[in-house]
Amino acid sequence: MSSQDIPEENLPVAQAEGADLDKHGDNPFADPGLPPHEHRIQDIDERAAKRSERTVAFLFTLSMLATIGFIASYVALPVDKSVYIWPLGHISALNFALGTTLGVALFCIGAGAVHWARTLMSDEEIADERHPIEASPEVKAKVLADFKQGAKESAIGRRKLIRNTMFGALTLVPLSGVVLLRDLGPLPEDKLRHTLWAKGKLLVNQNTNEPLRPEDVAVGSLTFAKPEGLEEHDHDFQTQIAKAALMIVRIAPEDIKDKQELEWSHEGIVAYSKICTHVGCPISLYEQQTHHVLCPCHQSTFDLTDGARVIFGPAGHALPQLRIGVNEEGYLEALGDFEEPVGPAFWERG
Ligand code: FES
Repeated sequence: MSSQDIPEENLPVAQAEGADLDKHGDNPFADPGLPPHEHRIQDIDERAAKRSERTVAFLFTLSMLATIGFIASYVALPVDKSVYIWPLGHISALNFALGTTLGVALFCIGAGAVHWARTLMSDEEIADERHPIEASPEVKAKVLADFKQGAKESAIGRRKLIRNTMFGALTLVPLSGVVLLRDLGPLPEDKLRHTLWAKGKLLVNQNTNEPLRPEDVAVGSLTFAKPEGLEEHDHDFQTQIAKAALMIVRIAPEDIKDKQELEWSHEGIVAYSKICTHVGCPISLYEQQTHHVLCPCHQSTFDLTDGARVIFGPAGHALPQLRIGVNEEGYLEALGDFEEPVGPAFWERG
């Protein structure tokens, strides 16, 4: 309920006679008006204004340097390095550097903006009448004019040093968030394109741990092999064997249909990756009569007489073949690494 809804006889005398009392200065609710405007030192002394401008520019520049420091820390500092910071004790150097530089970068942008507003932007008090929510065209035009006036008085056009350093700071600070995307996980790099196989590496029977000779591989048998030097107690054994595991079979050379397969074999002994090219299960079933191998997970079937091409199932491509030979001591050896990535088709050859 407003005073307009109250009968005049119920209003306090002072309010009922408002207009007259205003004139006499007796109305306790009278608008006191704005206090007289006081100029700041920067408004009347251009040297003080210049000092403020340099302070703001310094803060924005400091923000830029802190952002660069953030990125440099992220790139250069090892994750496991620690430093002693009193009173925190030993803490991660990387976390400390990232937190400090990002904090300084954001603080300096805020401090620069506040100092700019407090010392250089216009602080003239402006009284405006309340108006209906729907602004009239005249009001909109006035707002626009006020905005232009404000922009002019903020000196953003005239004080190029502030404007440029502010844009620089605001442009650089989001880079801190961009570089943090790097923490989404390690890049696979080319680790999945290489295995332990290399020229001269002996093929070692995975069950007996003995280097294989051609006579150890009989027609109709399936032998699993690993590279020499890879032992089960090695800390990265599982990682390495998941890429390097081999299956070896002997096929009568005249039964091998694929020319390259024959060239990469030794007297009909062929070595193929044991890792299924569908989703990476180890292949373990071998059909002696047809020389087909079958993956137990989703039944992909590969024809070892024809370049291990897929003849059934969801696998996307043939099993990679390892080129093998025999060294001077008569042991089977690799003649290089696989020439394509082993395993699932997700890591498509490239
Ligand atoms: S993982 Fe081999 S068929 Fe699916």
